[in-house]
Amino acid sequence: MSNGPQRLSLRHPGGTTTVFVGRGVVEASRPSFTKWLTDRLVFLVSSPRVLELHGDAIQELLAPAETVVTLTAPEGEEAKSLEVAGRLWAEMLESGGKRDSRLVAFGGGSIGDLGGFLAGCFLRGIEYLQLPTTLLAQVDASLGGKTAVDHGATKNSIGLFHHPALVLSEIAFLSTLPKGELRAALAEVVKMALLLDPLLLEWVERDLDKLLAGDPAALEPVVVASAKAKMRVVERDPEEGDQRRLLNFGHTLGHALEVALGYGDLRHGEAVAYGMLFALRLAERRGLEKPVAERLRRLLARFDLPALPPVDPDELMEIMGRDKKAKRGGLVWVLPVAAGEGRMVPDIEPEEVRRELEDFLRDPLPTAS
Ligand SMILES: NC(=O)c1ccc[n+]([C@@H]2O[C@H](COP(=O)([O-])OP(=O)(O)OC[C@H]3O[C@@H](n4cnc5c(N)ncnc54)[C@H](O)[C@@H]3O)[C@@H](O)[C@H]2O)c1
Ligand SMILES: [Zn+2]
Repeated sequence: MSNGPQRLSLRHPGGTTTVFVGRGVVEASRPSFTKWLTDRLVFLVSSPRVLELHGDAIQELLAPAETVVTLTAPEGEEAKSLEVAGRLWAEMLESGGKRDSRLVAFGGGSIGDLGGFLAGCFLRGIEYLQLPTTLLAQVDASLGGKTAVDHGATKNSIGLFHHPALVLSEIAFLSTLPKGELRAALAEVVKMALLLDPLLLEWVERDLDKLLAGDPAALEPVVVASAKAKMRVVERDPEEGDQRRLLNFGHTLGHALEVALGYGDLRHGEAVAYGMLFALRLAERRGLEKPVAERLRRLLARFDLPALPPVDPDELMEIMGRDKKAKRGGLVWVLPVAAGEGRMVPDIEPEEVRRELEDFLRDPLPTAS
């Protein structure tokens, strides 16, 4: 269990990212932060809501900068477009941005992905810092250097690897998150726990009610352990080979559900929760022990997921077939083998998937018992 803010290091091909995570990070990271931005021109990329809710908390931290230029992007996924990026690059050039300028991405994963992309391309790359304010961004999106914007309907299609110099994950920022956002992000925590960290899985099972309620004392050790789990995967596999693709557990069907339902009815994490429930069926057919599958189903039943709207299995099959992560020769599924261990399974026949899917869609929600 962690107590108070932790200072961690993530090693990657371009160097080292220092990661502060926990309660009281804003204070604990002050010396590193100050050193990084003193006398620099700093671009603060954020959204109106985050600035209104938490802007004051970081104003003082930014004070040692020579100048702070605030760049505002729209809320949520709308931030991730070439149009927004183009507008903000123009503002950066007009304000005299140089190679030694700094950028701070302050917001959820959308702002983080946009900010990293802005920093990665601006004058062929400037240093940036991730200040994630959502649970998803703290446990996942801010770590690993993946940056991107969307192009047309294709998510994350234009981007690059560009690691932040610093990540500051302050648990206090999560206090204003809508409960639905917390729940969706906790589904991704369950994903990492099941595949990578059996102890984390136990904590989530024990404290789920407190976590769903946003209790900071319960969130702190879970955010720290999840961030560590993600960092271990990134260090083993910085450029997203097979190791990192393990984190796609639940995402094959999850993405297809999001596309079929139009990104409106379900949050990403909720779609992933359904995706995990489905993948469990394929996993059980390949030897995953029933008690492990039941354990995950019981846990996800406590999430009180919104009902799945009617959706056509053929459409889902078609969408999964054109997934950008599909390898030639068919889809690769990530399936749990045991609690704490997952595997890529390349050779599942589409007929089997189609059959299971039809069955699954008849009664997708587990019942809590
Ligand atoms: N780069 C990666 O490795 C990676 C990994 C996972 C996800 N992602 C990306 O992350 C994005 C999703 O991120 P997200 O789930 O953080 O959502 P988000 O960034 O879209 O934020 C959701 C909403 O919450 C608001 N918000 C942010 N912080 C808040 C706070 N503290 N209190 C109240 N409201 C707050 C935002 O303004 C926004 O309106 C997707 O675009 C996804 O592709 C990237
Ligand atoms: Zn995800």
